[in-house]
Amino acid sequence: MQDYNLYFDANRDLWNQRTVVHRDSAFYNLAGFKDGETVLTPIELTELGDVKGKTLLHLQCHFGMDSLDWARKGAKVTGVDLSDKAIEEAEKLNKELGLNASFVCCNVLDTSKFVKEQFDIVFTSYGTIGWLPDLEPWAKMIAERLKPGGTFYIAEFHPMVWVFDDDFTHIKYSYEKTEVIVTENEGTYTDRNADIKGKEYSWNHSISEVLNVLIGAGLRIEMFNEHMYSPYPCFRNVVEFEAGKWYIKGLEGKIPVVYSLRAVKQ
Ligand SMILES: C[S@@+](CC[C@H](N)C(=O)[O-])C[C@H]1O[C@@H](n2cnc3c(N)ncnc32)[C@H](O)[C@@H]1O
Repeated sequence: MQDYNLYFDANRDLWNQRTVVHRDSAFYNLAGFKDGETVLTPIELTELGDVKGKTLLHLQCHFGMDSLDWARKGAKVTGVDLSDKAIEEAEKLNKELGLNASFVCCNVLDTSKFVKEQFDIVFTSYGTIGWLPDLEPWAKMIAERLKPGGTFYIAEFHPMVWVFDDDFTHIKYSYEKTEVIVTENEGTYTDRNADIKGKEYSWNHSISEVLNVLIGAGLRIEMFNEHMYSPYPCFRNVVEFEAGKWYIKGLEGKIPVVYSLRAVKQ
């Protein structure tokens, strides 16, 4: 089996650099969140529904804002992330807000080595699976960490978006996973001029790959939606056509930008 550790190490370094910039950005609206505003989007709030009293495992939780938002809505949350800096910030925020979430720093693919509990809900969203080379172990881990009858939910950027160059002028990458995509990182989505440097390594995952690994791991898919907009202005050349909904300029309403899926462990 291929050794991906060099890729994971490089990605960790970049996410460590991004964390502080993101924490202090207008994009993440940490001040508003501390004042009680929700940072989860209407997509997952509607499709996942009430989490009160449920245990929730949040995969690739970044510095914990979404995790802590679910905690404020009554879930007992455990967040997992590769970035030690992100986990450090998540733990600080948890303490500051007086919440009872817990956080674990590890590669998401190794979650079952570090977290033994089974959960009512496993949740992941917006910018997660593209950092994983292989989704079979990811899906297997999700099935391991769910209670029988438990729910897996993902909201993710659509693989159609990742076929384009950064400026959305032409098709540059394959829709499905071929080889690793290596890019020289410049800035970050919250600040294109931030001094964040390094190579990043990512993989495109087609919709059929995602569906098949989840089915193969024993999950029953009960909802799948494609959304023609992004709930975040995280790409270059976007236009807000309704409050909280962004189109990619030139592709308005022509391609799905996000998909969401809910599945149940049988
Ligand atoms: C775009 S953020 C994800 C989520 C969330 N939507 C947000 O913006 O807060 C991506 C997260 O994935 C984490 N990550 C990347 N590769 C990972 C891996 N192999 N295992 C665990 N976490 C990983 C990064 O550290 C980062 O915190």
